[in-house]
Amino acid sequence: MFIPLTLTGCLSTEERRGEAKEKDVYELSIAIDSQEDTVTGIFMNKFADLLEEKSKRRMKINRFPNSQLGGDGEITEAVQNGNIAFVVQTTAPQVSFVPEAAIFDAPMAFKNLDVARKVLDGELTEKLKEYYANKKLILLGYADQDFRVMSSNKKVEKMSDLKGIKIRTMENPNHIAFWKLVGANPTPMAWSEVYIGLQQGSIDAQENPIETIVASKVYEQQDDIILTNHILHTLCLIGSPSIINELPEELQKIIYEAADEAKVYARKMTDERNESRVKIIEDSGTKIIPFNEKLFNDMRAASEPVWKSLEEQIGKDLVNTLRSEIDKAEKE
Ligand code: MLT
Repeated sequence: MFIPLTLTGCLSTEERRGEAKEKDVYELSIAIDSQEDTVTGIFMNKFADLLEEKSKRRMKINRFPNSQLGGDGEITEAVQNGNIAFVVQTTAPQVSFVPEAAIFDAPMAFKNLDVARKVLDGELTEKLKEYYANKKLILLGYADQDFRVMSSNKKVEKMSDLKGIKIRTMENPNHIAFWKLVGANPTPMAWSEVYIGLQQGSIDAQENPIETIVASKVYEQQDDIILTNHILHTLCLIGSPSIINELPEELQKIIYEAADEAKVYARKMTDERNESRVKIIEDSGTKIIPFNEKLFNDMRAASEPVWKSLEEQIGKDLVNTLRSEIDKAEKE
């Protein structure tokens, strides 16, 4: 992938020597795989706006939505190599760079967004920051695009209803193992084939956040959306240490402050947009089946082997930290 130097966020030699002056303008880039009209895009734009405002335009942020600089993997690699300053993306594609990001594959972890967000702001993320740093990435913070939920043409009110349901999943071994454990028949398939797969009946169900279910119009092909809340759809903002650490200290401080503020804003947007998207689904005649604690707990119990397998994949320490942080957040 070719990235023009002027768009990369690279600094001049003079700046690298720390001789930058008050008036110097730093041109940095941020890229996302998603479209701009998504919470990922909103997170990107808010962060970029805040950097420009707070630095009184000493930072100019070039924004590249919609895979303009490549897909998620390519963008992350460019951030790692210091060719792009920032990226916002979910943790799934980061696993090939930071295997410990698979901690968010732990199924049925959070009963609600309040618990999830407390955990995302706690000790687990502090530990993950070190793993990202070891891979030449700065973890600046996590927002979310709510939970992945199930949509289906078969009724799901209790665990036994999941038996044999042909559900499309991503090509993720932890996700596939989870759906098998709860009795379903997981069928990995490219996202682009899901709408037609549902229309033609080659699959009965799929799972994604409400925002994605509406953007793709998948709800048109489904009778029910079941609020299973089975996996959090994280939105992770990461930065390039070889760019950030070369900036003047006051600008580095602004980056961390802006990341914190943009994260809170993105979460608010997730909540607000969800209400309007739920309405679109209900108006279409597709039913929303509310969160059912018994179903959640039964699916959680069945999925314990995935948690055990994560202990082997990424170590007991992270998995135990996730478990204890959830306990703490649920009691608060
Ligand atoms: C998937 O299920 O493949 C993704 O969540 C869809 C997306 O990228 O929006």
